[in-house]
Amino acid sequence: MTNQTSDWVTRSLQSVWHPCTQMQHHETVPLIPVSHGRGAWLYDHDGRRYLDAISSWWVNLFGHANPRINAALREQLDTLEHAMLAGFTHEPVIRLSERLAALTGRALGHAFYASDGASAVEIALKMSFHSWRNAGRTDKQEFVCLQGSYHGETIGALAVTDVALFKDAYGPLLRATQTVMSPDARQARDGETAQDVARRAALEVQRLFEQKADKIAAIIIEPLVQCAAGMAMHDPLYLQLVRELCDRHGVHLILDEIAVGCGRTGTFFACEQAGIWPDFVTLSKGISGGYLPLSLVLTTNTVYEGFYSADVTRGFLHSHSYTGNPLACRAALATLDIFTEDHVLEANRARAAKLSSALAPLADHPRVRNLRNRGMIWAFDAQGVDNTFSRRFFANATKNELLLRPIGNTVYLMPPYILSDEEIDGLATRTAAVFEQTLAEA
Ligand SMILES: Cc1ncc(COP(=O)(O)O)c(C=O)c1O
Repeated sequence: MTNQTSDWVTRSLQSVWHPCTQMQHHETVPLIPVSHGRGAWLYDHDGRRYLDAISSWWVNLFGHANPRINAALREQLDTLEHAMLAGFTHEPVIRLSERLAALTGRALGHAFYASDGASAVEIALKMSFHSWRNAGRTDKQEFVCLQGSYHGETIGALAVTDVALFKDAYGPLLRATQTVMSPDARQARDGETAQDVARRAALEVQRLFEQKADKIAAIIIEPLVQCAAGMAMHDPLYLQLVRELCDRHGVHLILDEIAVGCGRTGTFFACEQAGIWPDFVTLSKGISGGYLPLSLVLTTNTVYEGFYSADVTRGFLHSHSYTGNPLACRAALATLDIFTEDHVLEANRARAAKLSSALAPLADHPRVRNLRNRGMIWAFDAQGVDNTFSRRFFANATKNELLLRPIGNTVYLMPPYILSDEEIDGLATRTAAVFEQTLAEA
């Protein structure tokens, strides 16, 4: 480590409280000061590089310092950096809202903006509750989430999150929530298919709705992949069944596409694979190409019209200072342009097939379970490892030019949509090598 690097590390540890980190672990796990990024790579001050195989927490779609997004942002900087969105509007937010509505075939034609994913979840929960209230259904106050769900860390979003490590300490602060079985296909019993698991999980929702749908405002689901639960994947049938149940029992369906949206599962919206639309969809992370904090909730005409009134208190008075920030919206527009110009969804199918076949030999490894893939997400579970596995794997990965950060014993890849054939091969080979190295240490 050069003197300059060690100076950045010391100063960061003294002044920056890092997210999702027990700071004491940095006594043994090195902190890496990033100097710059290019394409799929991050570089440190010592000239070492790291393939960003998890897209910097699932946000970066088209590489670091992407020339097209950079150019759009430069132009936007010289035009309008920010203006409040109450009483004012601007071209980037209008064009983005129109394009997103068009991507849903206008099923979800109204966009409400925030900055981070958790805020979008708060908005969807509040909108659902308020929408029932406006309809005279003040009894509908409860929310349902899935086992292993993750929807963010603010108080409302944490209430519909089911990850003990993040939630338990704050239990007394959180609203009680109904938790139902996850449709995670790994739970298949002998002879059961992923669709059977989906049916079994939907039956639990049915029983709950039959018992108390009159008290329930919404069910919130991460469609197709529960990412923070360790890339738990389910069959699209589950979403169809829950949509039907929501319609039958008058419960809103909120689909949280913050992690799985923007092409991550193979279609722009994950729910397209089930052929359904929810009442609310949340988007963030990849929507700005990984450049700027931007999140939003898309909803239906029916919900929107329920708020439209001469009475101010029937309106949705929620706000954030940076709502609809023009720079972030412009980054999102440049991101959507790349999707269209480069036929990204189609190109990703070829990329995914290459990485799947490069990773396929791992399925025969005696310590690998459930090697799985959906779109541009790959995961496997390491068997017989202790609770230091993730940290040790991360440290070994960085020594092998990889940024990979397992969730518990689940190793996953969520790379940007730009990997070359050479980068794909390198990623697969190095992942397998880091896995061996980490197992050998124990
Ligand atoms: C499905 C899902 N919802 C919500 C969030 C929260 O987003 P943010 O970290 O931007 O608040 C995340 C973050 O990983 C997520 O994966």
